[in-house]
Amino acid sequence: MTDILTIPRPDDWHLHLRDGAMLQGILPETSRHFARAIIMPNLVPPVVTAADAAAYRDRILAARPKGSGFEPLMTLYLTEDTDPDDVRAAHASGLVTAAKLYPAGATTNSASGVRNFDKVLPVLEAMADIGMPMCVHGEVTDADIDIFDREAVFIDRVLDPLRRRVPDLRVVMEHITTRDGVDYAASAPGKLAATITTHHLIINRNHLLVGGVKPHYYCLPVAKREDHRLALVAAATSGNPSYFLGTDSAPHIDPLKENACGCAGVFSATNTMACLAEVFDAEGALDKLEGFASRHGPKFYGLPVNEATLTLTKGDPVTYPDKIITGDGPVTVFDPGFPLHWHVSD
Ligand code: DOR
Ligand code: ZN
Repeated sequence: MTDILTIPRPDDWHLHLRDGAMLQGILPETSRHFARAIIMPNLVPPVVTAADAAAYRDRILAARPKGSGFEPLMTLYLTEDTDPDDVRAAHASGLVTAAKLYPAGATTNSASGVRNFDKVLPVLEAMADIGMPMCVHGEVTDADIDIFDREAVFIDRVLDPLRRRVPDLRVVMEHITTRDGVDYAASAPGKLAATITTHHLIINRNHLLVGGVKPHYYCLPVAKREDHRLALVAAATSGNPSYFLGTDSAPHIDPLKENACGCAGVFSATNTMACLAEVFDAEGALDKLEGFASRHGPKFYGLPVNEATLTLTKGDPVTYPDKIITGDGPVTVFDPGFPLHWHVSD
């Protein structure tokens, strides 16, 4: 039985760091284990221009714990007014790694997102031209589409037609939650890939709703039924490079989660690697964790695998804080619902 595992230092290919006191409070939770992360641009107001991204990057670098070499990989938030030349210049200078497409209204701070996808075609064509990936929140927002169907409908009605119109565009389907997402993501290796979150590998919609609503398990896309979760676990542990880790760790202070209209977001930065080791171990797939957390993401993004390493050692249950106390207030850490035995060290 393997009880010690050393892997190249992992990266988080989908992360919310927020800003100000929240950024200051939660950045150490990611930089402790991760070398790099794709930083989501859904601030208020969003990170739309290269200048916004440069200023936000500086704030993140300034918030790093002393001695941390954590590297934020910046993204731009696509709007119907995004200037293709600004995107080209931001990418050419190395400032931004990707751009994020939010359908308007799909999730937290997505009001400035895209309503008419035709309007972003010139930007998407520019991105295809320069090889800059589009990260997409893949859910339709139509009121008549059931929330549990929004991902599958997005693939059929929006993503697949869009990819046919811009065939060279490289796409990362963010935080897939369904078997439909798993199947579609593997359909164009190298062109298309998907991130999978830690929490969607662990919870299904029963965890969210049975025995009382659990606001700390509420996120978007919402957790689906168990057979979809099993498809995600099979994908993550398969060794297929079309799937890699993007935690979507998304902090909201407890009063905004434990609320009559609670915010969407699960905060898992603190215990993600221990959770993943537990999941992969239970599947007999510990040897696949390195690909999922450390190799497939850099491969898709054309970046080197990290030289530093992380060691996971199995032992007595791990302790971790229930909450991270930030200057904005407390943020509850994801509770996987089972003990974690994998201790993480440099
Ligand atoms: O649950 C989520 N929270 N899903 C998202 O897409 C956004 C995120 C956030 O920013 O809080
Ligand atoms: Zn997100």
